[in-house]
Amino acid sequence: MAKILIINGPNLNMLGKREQSVYGDMTLNEINNEAVRYGSSIGFEVDTFQSNSEGKIIDTVHAIEDKYEGVIINPGAFTHTSYAIRDAIASIDVPFVEVHLSNIHSREEFRHSSVTASVCTGQISGFGPNSYILGLKALKGIIST
Ligand code: DQA
Repeated sequence: MAKILIINGPNLNMLGKREQSVYGDMTLNEINNEAVRYGSSIGFEVDTFQSNSEGKIIDTVHAIEDKYEGVIINPGAFTHTSYAIRDAIASIDVPFVEVHLSNIHSREEFRHSSVTASVCTGQISGFGPNSYILGLKALKGIIST
């Protein structure tokens, strides 16, 4: 079974409570459980990680090679600001798929650009919790080709 890591960045631990009109009412735990379940149905063993700290996310990215064959990342607001996370992803030879619950392109102007997407294989944005499922599906295509 291929091992996959799902990384969630800042404030995503507040899902279920945070801005429900934008992010829905599922908690991160519920989203993770669904992703783990879907992942195992397509032959993935899925681990999950969340941190509000940029440094911890970077340390986690650095430790990915040798442990995981693919990564789903929702960098939260670091999507729009963190050249450091962007550089960490660029230093690793494992495919990353960037996902967002909301459609970042239809929201405030500052969310329209992602500094991390260009070092990922692609970006999935706007499908709620299903973005993670679609991200896993995309990884399946990348890893099995
Ligand atoms: C988000 C979008 C970001 O702009 C925001 O800062 C988040 C969540 C999303 O999943 O829609 O924290 O990454």
